Amino acid sequence: MAGFLAQLLSCLGALRYSFFTNINKNKFGYCGKNVTFQAPSVNTKLSNMYIHDNVSIFGYTKFILYEGKFIVKRNCVIAIGLTVITGNHVATVGLPTILQCSMHINDVEKDVIVEESVWIGANVTLLAGVTIGRGAVIGAGSIVNKSIPPYAVAVGVPAKIVKVVFNKDQILKHEETIYKPDERLAENELNSLFEKYYFDKTPYGVDMLSKEQQQLLKSKIEMFL
Ligand SMILES: CC(C)(COP(=O)(O)OP(=O)(O)OC[C@H]1O[C@@H](n2cnc3c(N)ncnc32)[C@H](O)[C@@H]1OP(=O)(O)O)[C@@H](O)C(=O)NCCC(=O)NCCS
Repeated sequence: MAGFLAQLLSCLGALRYSFFTNINKNKFGYCGKNVTFQAPSVNTKLSNMYIHDNVSIFGYTKFILYEGKFIVKRNCVIAIGLTVITGNHVATVGLPTILQCSMHINDVEKDVIVEESVWIGANVTLLAGVTIGRGAVIGAGSIVNKSIPPYAVAVGVPAKIVKVVFNKDQILKHEETIYKPDERLAENELNSLFEKYYFDKTPYGVDMLSKEQQQLLKSKIEMFL
C-alpha cells in the first residue's frame, strides 16, 4: 500500500512538474502582453523568468535557473525544446560532488539574455552568461556558450556565426521600419559589426516586402512596434 501511494505521489508530482503549475505566467518575474508559453516545461525558478511583449516560446522547454535570470525582450520566437542553464557547478577541493551540486556551493550564476526579434530554432541550449543579439537567428540543435552579436546567423556546437541575417543596407531599412529612431542601431555600430564579424558572410534573409504586401501587412506590423 505504502509503495503504491509513493508511486502515485511521484506520478502526480511528475505531472504537476511537466504540465500544470510550471506554466503559471503570473509567477514570472515579469510577463509582458501577448506572451505564448507552451507546455510541457520543466522550470526550477519561474520568478527568474522575464518575458517581454509578443514572445512565443514553444513546448518541451527546460529552464534550469537558480540565481540567474532568463530575460527575453519583445517580438522573439523560440521553437520547441529550448534549454536554458544560468549556472555552473564548480568542483571544490574536499567537497563530494553530490553535496557541492545539490547545495550549489561555489556555483557561478549568470543571466541569459535574448534581445528583441530573435528567432531560436528547435532544440537549442543557451548556457550561462550568453546574450543573443537583436535580430539574430540560432540554428536548430545549437549549443550557445558565447554571446552572439546582433543580426548573426549562428549554428552548431558550439554555435558559430555562419551567415549574417541581412546586408548592411537591409539592416538599416529593417531597423527604420520596425524600431523608433532612438532604438535603432547606430550606423557606426553596424559598421563595426560588419568589420568584425560579417565582412565575409552571406546574407540569409530576403529583401523588402512587395508594395502590395507592405500595404496588406501595414496595420499588423504596427501592432508590434
Ligand atoms: C540556421 C538556419 C536558419 C540557416 O538556414 P540557411 O541560411 O538556409 O543555412 P544553410 O543551409 O545555407 O547553412 C549554412 C551553413 O550552416 C550549416 N548549418 C545550417 N543550419 C545548421 C544547424 N542547425 N546546425 C549545424 N549546422 C547548420 C550548413 O550545413 C552550412 O554549412 P556549410 O556552409 O559548411 O555547408 C537553418 O539551418 C536552421 O537551423 N533553421 C532552424 C529550423 C527550426 O528549428 N525551425 C523550428 C520552427 S520555429
